[in-house]
Amino acid sequence: MIDKKMQDAINEQMNWELYSSYMYFSMAAYFDSVNLKGCSSWMRIQAMEEQTHVKRFYDFLTARGGRVLLSAIKAPPTEWDSPLAVIEETLKHEQHVTSRINDMVDLSLELKDHATNSFLRWFVDEQVEEEESVDEVLQSLKLNENNPGGLFIIDKELAARTFVPPADVSL
Ligand code: FEO
Repeated sequence: MIDKKMQDAINEQMNWELYSSYMYFSMAAYFDSVNLKGCSSWMRIQAMEEQTHVKRFYDFLTARGGRVLLSAIKAPPTEWDSPLAVIEETLKHEQHVTSRINDMVDLSLELKDHATNSFLRWFVDEQVEEEESVDEVLQSLKLNENNPGGLFIIDKELAARTFVPPADVSL
C-alpha cells in the first residue's frame, strides 16, 4: 500500500499534467489564431503526450492500491505576445515540472519507497527530453525573431511532428 504522502503527491502531479495538457491546447489555439498551423499541430501533440503522463501516474497509483483523486484544473492563459513568448513559457513550465518530479524523487527516497522511486525514473528521463525539444524550438524561433520567412519554415518543420501512442500506456 502506498504511503498517503506519496499518494497526495501523485494526485497533485496528475493535476499538473492535466493542466500542462490544458495549457498546451490553449497554446495550440493561439497558434491557430495567428495562422501557424504547424506550431498548433506540434502543441496539440504536446498536449496529447501530457495526457499519457496522467495515465502513467493513474495506472501506477491504482496498481499500488492508492486512490486517484482528481481536482479542479485552473484555467490556462489564452493570449501571448508572440510565438516566441509561447515557447518561452513552455520551457519555463517544463523546467517547473522537472523540479516537481525531482521533489517527488526526494520524497520517495525519504519514504524508502523503492517502487515509486523506480517508476519516477521514467519521468526524470522524459523531462530531459522534454526540455531539450522545447529548447530546440525556442532557439530556432530566437534566431528568426524578425524573419517572417524563417518563421514560415519553422512552422512547416513543426508540422512534421507525429504522435505515437506509447505501447506501455493503457487507453
Ligand atoms: Fe508531463 Fe511535459 O511534462
